[in-house]
Parts: sequence; structure tokens; C-alpha cells
Amino acid sequence: MELHLLEILCFTIKGQRIWHAIILDLLPKGLNLANKALLSGCSAGGLATFFHCDNFTRTLPKTATVKCLSDAGFFLDVRDVTLNHTARVFYENLINLQGIGKYLDKNCTSSRYYPHQCFFPQYSLAYIATPYFILNSVYDVYQFHHHLVPPSADLHGYWNHCKIRPTSCTPNQIRILQGFRSQMLRDLTFFYGFSKRGGLYLNSCFAHCQSESQDTWFAPDSPRVNNKTIAEAVGDWYFGRNVTKVVDCPYPCDNTCHNLLS
Ligand SMILES: *[C@@H]1O[C@H](CO)[C@@H](O)[C@H](O)[C@H]1NC(C)=O
Ligand SMILES: *[C@@H]1O[C@H](CO)[C@@H](O)[C@H](O)[C@H]1NC(C)=O
Ligand SMILES: *[C@@H]1O[C@H](CO)[C@@H](O)[C@H](O)[C@H]1NC(C)=O
Ligand SMILES: *[C@@H]1O[C@H](CO)[C@@H](O)[C@H](O)[C@H]1NC(C)=O
Ligand SMILES: *[C@@H]1O[C@H](CO)[C@@H](O)[C@H](O)[C@H]1NC(C)=O
Repeated sequence: MELHLLEILCFTIKGQRIWHAIILDLLPKGLNLANKALLSGCSAGGLATFFHCDNFTRTLPKTATVKCLSDAGFFLDVRDVTLNHTARVFYENLINLQGIGKYLDKNCTSSRYYPHQCFFPQYSLAYIATPYFILNSVYDVYQFHHHLVPPSADLHGYWNHCKIRPTSCTPNQIRILQGFRSQMLRDLTFFYGFSKRGGLYLNSCFAHCQSESQDTWFAPDSPRVNNKTIAEAVGDWYFGRNVTKVVDCPYPCDNTCHNLLS
């Protein structure tokens, strides 16, 4: 899990320049002729898609079909179990360290009392014009372990067993996890109800990143919601075959998960 933290730090400290350099490199190699493109990323990369998506669209020919997908990047502005704003403080420090406040969406920052909240997709999503697909687990393991129950919020280790094995969670801990799920659903209510071109796939797995491995993306035993794999759902949305917004039933009802926790 520490890996993802490193990923964020290493990737985005010069992220804006790296992004720009990669796009400039790819354009003459054929990206400038693309008629279909999908920008996606997972974890910190999934979060980063929200910052670059519209820029990506503007870079490509007007005639191209451009869409963006975030996998496990829908980090919530959530309080930890001691009601501390662990996630917000963490990202606030990151924004200041890297000086990325100026890259946040202006329409979003000008509408908020705390402009830096626009780092969180729940606030910035409404200002993105490109069609989006949000893929996330409602019990995302990274957020569970680092934002909802960071070690600083559990000095006595009451959560140690639950964090390793959800079947060892106490009823109260399950209630807290369901509260996290509810918050994610609340934060996506508008998108769910009103985004005509958006896609959504929220499953109830203890997972983190489900699009980058064939196992969880499109295999006979891959996770399914309404009997649809992630690949089928994303395909239906990307190619406009069907509206794709699915929300799984709450834990422990889904027996198709590939849980990172046993
Ligand atoms: C995309 O972002 C880069 C780097 O911030 C900027 O230089 C470029 O002009 C943007 N491209 C478009 C088409 O907006
Ligand atoms: C952002 O603001 C600009 C200028 O005020 C406006 O033209 C644009 O439509 C806005 N975009 C969104 C997504 O609200
Ligand atoms: C809340 O967070 C602050 C800073 O992140 C930390 O110093 C403090 O110890 C935390 N308090 C609790 C009760 O976790
Ligand atoms: C689920 O989908 C598979 C193939 O994708 C199909 O064979 C099966 O009949 C479906 N099951 C149900 C209950 O619809
Ligand atoms: C579109 O989705 C609905 C609801 O999930 C389903 O009943 C229908 O069969 C789908 N249509 C196609 C063409 O896949």
C-alpha cells in the first residue's frame, strides 16, 4: 500500500511537465490522428485523470471520441474514525508541497470556500466536460486503510483484524464501513442521476484497482454486478451500447469479488 503513496509523490511532483511531455511525444506518433481515445489510470493515476481529462480532449482532434476512466481514483473527502480530516490534511500538504493549487479547475476553486477541496473528484467532477466512467470499490482498500482508519486513528489496534480480514470485523466496524459506502454513493448521487454521458461501476469488493489485470477485468470468474463484468460495463459505456451505471448491493452480498483481503 505504501507503494501507492510513492506513486503519488514521484508521479505528480513534476506531473504537469511529465504529462505535457508525454502528450507532445505521442501526438506525432499517431495520437493526433486518433478517432477514439480513452484516458485511464488507477489509484493515484485514477485521481490524476480528473486533472488532465479535459486537457486531453482539447489536445485531440475535434472529431475524435474522447472519454476518461478513473479506476480506484475516487478518493473521498472523508473523515477518519476519530472524525479527523486525515485525507484532507494529507492532500492539503501534497498540494502545498507540489504547488499544484494553480492547476486545479478554476470554475471549481472559485465556487468553494476551501478551494483546495477541488483536488477531490467529488467536487471537481461536475466541472469536467468530457464523458467520464467512475470505477471504484465502495470499500476501496487503500482508502479504508489510509483515510478511514489510518494508524494514527487506531493507536490501540482495534481495527487490526478487521483491516486484514473483513469477516473479523465487529458489527460496529461493519457499520462504519457501510457509512463509508453511503458517503461514496451520496457524493455520486448527482452524477448517477443526471450525467447522461457518464458511466459508473461501484462494486462491493475489498479491492483497489480492478481494470488493469485480466483477472478482475474480463475473465470467466471476474467480479460482476448485475452479471456484468467491468470490461462489459466499460465497453457498453465507451461504445454507447447501453447506459452503464451500476451499484452493487452492500457487503457481504457479492460473491464474485477478488478481495485483496481474505
Ligand atoms: C494542456 O496543458 C498543458 C500543460 O499545462 C498546456 O500547456 C496546454 O496548452 C494544454 N493544452 C490544451 C489544448 O489546452
Ligand atoms: C468554466 O468557466 C468558463 C468561463 O467562466 C465557462 O466558459 C465554462 O463553460 C465553464 N465550464 C464548466 C464546465 O462549467
Ligand atoms: C488528528 O490529526 C492531526 C493532524 O493530522 C494529528 O496531529 C492528531 O493527532 C490527530 N488526532 C487524532 C485524535 O487522531
Ligand atoms: C451471466 O452472463 C453469462 C455470460 O456473460 C451468461 O452465460 C449467464 O447465463 C448469465 N447469467 C444470468 C443469471 O443471467
Ligand atoms: C441494457 O441494459 C439493460 C439494463 O441493464 C438491459 O436490460 C438491456 O438488455 C441492455 N441492452 C443491451 C442492448 O445490452
